[in-house]
Amino acid sequence: MTSRRCFLGAAAGLPAFAAKTSIRSDEIETRVQRRDFKNLYKEDLPTPCMVVDLEIFEKNLRTMADHCRNTGIRLRGHVKVHKSPDIAKRQVALGSIGVTCATIAESELMSHSGIAGVLLTRQVTGKNNINRAIMLAKRDPTFGTVVDDPLAADWLQEAAAREGVKVRTAVDVFAGLTRHGIEAGAPALELARKVDSSKNLKLIGLMGYSGGASHTHGWSERKKKSGNDLAGLMESVALARKAGLPVEIVTGGSTGTYNIDSETKGLTELQAGSFVFMDTLYRQIGGKQDPAVYTDFGPALTVMTTVISKRHPHRCTIDAGNKALLKPTDEVKGRPEVKVENQGAEYGILVWKDSDRDFKLGERVELYPSNLDMSTNVYDRYYVAKGERIVDVWPIMGRAGAAQR
Ligand SMILES: Cc1ncc(COP(=O)(O)O)c(C=O)c1O
Repeated sequence: MTSRRCFLGAAAGLPAFAAKTSIRSDEIETRVQRRDFKNLYKEDLPTPCMVVDLEIFEKNLRTMADHCRNTGIRLRGHVKVHKSPDIAKRQVALGSIGVTCATIAESELMSHSGIAGVLLTRQVTGKNNINRAIMLAKRDPTFGTVVDDPLAADWLQEAAAREGVKVRTAVDVFAGLTRHGIEAGAPALELARKVDSSKNLKLIGLMGYSGGASHTHGWSERKKKSGNDLAGLMESVALARKAGLPVEIVTGGSTGTYNIDSETKGLTELQAGSFVFMDTLYRQIGGKQDPAVYTDFGPALTVMTTVISKRHPHRCTIDAGNKALLKPTDEVKGRPEVKVENQGAEYGILVWKDSDRDFKLGERVELYPSNLDMSTNVYDRYYVAKGERIVDVWPIMGRAGAAQR
């Protein structure tokens, strides 16, 4: 069928892909507000924007949920990579026992969105954050946090006593990352004892996050690194159990080590986050089956851009630049041979060889981002696509200003 709009598009010399649908650009925002996605296609969207491939995303969630069910480990996935209550709820629906959060603001966001079992994986120290953790525990008794210092445990206890609340608290043990974690063994045991004997803290277990293992290239190397990094945590867990302390949870792990940590059987729960979307840095670490590419989870998230200039051979300019967190390690969907280069705040460059297929002016180009945590933080929503059709929009929450602090 040749619609009048298609005809006008062709007559004006617009590329064919620019005239398929009848959505006016000024309708898109009101349609999104009304959650009316009828006849909305990727080609209608303003760029740069984030697009989730629903099929790949749902498969990633199912793969992890099945893995957890089959191995007996539980999932409390990290939300710092997506900042989306919609995604957290989907994970809970598939059996997750809650979510892990990097900040008190994220914890409030998730808990207030109705997610039970929020665990804040960074200890609270300043007055503001301590008070908010206490208020959150008061409102949501399933909320928990961690400590890696006896002083922080004292502060938490004092604030909790003032409010007459008991706060679920895990001891964060050093697992190879010098940014946090008390020394394993006797110091970790002492801290666990202290938490357990603090009237307003409830010891729930121990945590050890081996961030160095998560991106170690090669499955066997990763396994070795994870084993080494978690040895101290396991020793501390054994000591705590021997001392009769309650160790309900042993939490840690990541997307890179999900099938290593569950094999080791030391952790009771996983904090993996990136598997929901994957990024190029994770894809490069290699998997158990394929040493070159980590294919356990598929790349479900792209940054969609538009070619805005093409005046030079073998290169073109796209409308995603430094502000969109474009990186030379990003990859072009369907065109792995194309190089991505930074150009400026609102510009990026794609470079290819003479023999490769050209890009056209106005063409949509999707890029796999390098680091989810950073990239998702600069966009306000995920456009969720089934093929070319947009079927949903999920807000990315708590990314800036007061909401992020
Ligand atoms: C404390 C903590 N736990 C778990 C993770 C695992 O996340 P991912 O699966 O995205 O590597 C992270 C990521 O940085 C983290 O900071």
